[in-house]
Amino acid sequence: MSGNILVKNMTFKYPSMISPLFNNVSVNIHEDWKLGLIGRNGRGKTTLLKILLDQLEYEGTVISSLEFKYFPRYPDLDDCLTAEEVLLKESPMTERWEMELELSYMDLSPEILDRSFHVLSGGEQTKILLIGLFLNDDSFPLIDEPTNNLDVHGRKVVGEFLNRKKGFIVISHDQHFLNHFVDHVLAINKESVDVLKGNIETWQFEKKNAENLAEETNQKLFNEINRLETVSKRVGTWGQKRENSTKDAAGRRLAAKQMKRSKAIKKRTEEKIRDKQNLIHNVKRLLI
Ligand SMILES: Nc1ncnc2c1ncn2[C@@H]1O[C@H](COP(=O)(O)OP(=O)(O)OP(=O)(O)O)[C@@H](O)[C@H]1O
Ligand SMILES: [Mg+2]
Repeated sequence: MSGNILVKNMTFKYPSMISPLFNNVSVNIHEDWKLGLIGRNGRGKTTLLKILLDQLEYEGTVISSLEFKYFPRYPDLDDCLTAEEVLLKESPMTERWEMELELSYMDLSPEILDRSFHVLSGGEQTKILLIGLFLNDDSFPLIDEPTNNLDVHGRKVVGEFLNRKKGFIVISHDQHFLNHFVDHVLAINKESVDVLKGNIETWQFEKKNAENLAEETNQKLFNEINRLETVSKRVGTWGQKRENSTKDAAGRRLAAKQMKRSKAIKKRTEEKIRDKQNLIHNVKRLLI
């Protein structure tokens, strides 16, 4: 296997959408990573895999020489393949003993290979398809929600199986499952896409820190806005009072000059307030 996945300034939207699902996204994914892809429903996780598979048209660059394989992709019902034939279709040179070894990691007995794939349970089918993705060393699996048919034990077994492998992306909403094996996390947030080294716990820790920092920054900005608003009000009233307080021509000229100055100060202060309000908006935007 050679090369990384380089996504640069990628923008994508489905034709029916008003604003893009991805806006100028840049990430670099290493070929050896065990990457957990997370994000709320509808954030674009499956879409991102489809973009890597070159099934959708996007703007920007996606470069990779890896051979992507997508899960779930079920064999045709009409082909009536046995589990062994399903695996051989993925990797024709694989020997039976190699398949049996992988089956043992998945807590499956060898005789399952001779059964028709379509009579297998949902969990067994999932395990066979996952084994198939990794038989060929040159492929880079893109695994979309593998836990749907797995019970608690099945999730543990598949988690341990994936922990033995490297070089893949897994989408899952089950953070406990992902924590078994991921060493990097790609999070699709509300307005950003972040990659970090570590597992979901690391990501949660970083997210909490970012939220605390954002909260602190916002509080400071609010205090600053309050102070500036007081300044702006005081300057305004002071200028007005000054102009009203004197009757003679020279005094009024001086007062008018000071009024002009105080208006300029007021304007500058109001601009500062607007800047700070924009900063608050930006800090909020960064939140997950
Ligand atoms: N073919 C399509 N045409 C228009 N909109 C689409 C299409 N496919 C997906 N979408 C929309 O794009 C958004 C992202 O969808 P996607 O399936 O990538 O989300 P997801 O993160 O995988 O969500 P989930 O966790 O529910 O699987 C959703 O709002 C979805 O409705
Ligand atoms: Mg999805």
